[in-house]
Amino acid sequence: MRRCDELASCSEEAEIIVRPFASDAMRHAQSLAAEWMELAGMSVRRDNVGNLRGRYEAQSAGAPTLFLGSHLDSVRDAGRYDGPLGVVVAIAAVQHLRDASRRLPFAVEVLAFADEEGLRYGSTYLGSRAVAGSFDRRDLERLDADGILMRHAIRDFGGDPDRVADDVFTGEALGYVEVHIEQGPVLEARGLPVGVVVGIAGQNRYTVAFTGQAGHAGTVPMSLRRDALAAAAEFVLAVEAEARAEPEVVATVGKILAHPGATNVIAGRAVLALDVRSGDRATLLVASRRMLNLAEEIATGRKLTVQVTTDSRNEAVACDDGLVRLISRAIEAAGYTLAPLTSGAGHDGVEMSRIAPIGMLFVRCKGGISHNPAESVTVEDVGVAIDVLNRFLELRAKK
Ligand code: GLV
Ligand code: MN
Ligand code: MN
Repeated sequence: MRRCDELASCSEEAEIIVRPFASDAMRHAQSLAAEWMELAGMSVRRDNVGNLRGRYEAQSAGAPTLFLGSHLDSVRDAGRYDGPLGVVVAIAAVQHLRDASRRLPFAVEVLAFADEEGLRYGSTYLGSRAVAGSFDRRDLERLDADGILMRHAIRDFGGDPDRVADDVFTGEALGYVEVHIEQGPVLEARGLPVGVVVGIAGQNRYTVAFTGQAGHAGTVPMSLRRDALAAAAEFVLAVEAEARAEPEVVATVGKILAHPGATNVIAGRAVLALDVRSGDRATLLVASRRMLNLAEEIATGRKLTVQVTTDSRNEAVACDDGLVRLISRAIEAAGYTLAPLTSGAGHDGVEMSRIAPIGMLFVRCKGGISHNPAESVTVEDVGVAIDVLNRFLELRAKK
């Protein structure tokens, strides 16, 4: 808990938690995590994209690798547990092995991913994509809000944009297991500290830009306006109505920029971010298409143009049956009832599933609140998560 507090103090802004990819705040967070990894007996390095990786060697050379971990980047005005909790719990599990002078028949590598949320470049899972071999080199040409190219940000951070392909793990991976706050209300409602995850919903993200005509707020009659912000407002409500009508879908517009952005100027351009999710592949596709068609209809009806950019598309992913069984056994052995959960939030396991079976353990969080400074977990529940992870490692070692 103290370590999560320390990581929370690593921020780009004084009053809130903002820890973007390749930022000074991330550098600071990584230096803390690296120190804890070393204390836990791991050899530590930073890879070319900027992930921090700690490795605890196996009983013998040439053994396979089991990955644990989560991400150290954050959303804007974040809580202190989404991501960091999974990193510090993984380090605690390795520390437990080290304290017992215990080596397992596999190496344990703790991955502290550098970008999961996509805050700086609108790109989800940059860190895990690099490890899983799905990093798209074209992303290096993306610009952040200050006009900094991703390739320059990576280099300034000490990485090597031209060698991201070398970050790919090519050995034998037994699995990737991530501990994470639930970010939902189910565990709290059921009175359980932890739950096993069976799958992760798919998600598509788009930038939708309406272009109309900027003009004087006092002189242009209402009937002659081509107001881009009014179109965006209509679209936000249309998205909400679509998602409400389809129980398997959630959709969010969490950001709008209006240009030029002045009280007495009609907005000539409005750019918004659309996030659509579903646990079902076909449903996600159909719902996303329908929402983008609505953007076209709204633009046409208001004599505007609209331009859509696809920022990311991630299909739903199932957790591995074998890992779900082992994590479930570990939960039962710790004395708790099983609560299988599906994650509506995205996780690095989506990418890691390309190179390894994946599993996840969720930890109860207060009110199911996340992506919010009010994120809260109890020290007792985190203790249970560490215990379950320790038990899981021993069960996997016996397999
Ligand atoms: C990651 O937190 C997401 O947006 O699902
Ligand atoms: Mn998150
Ligand atoms: Mn997360």
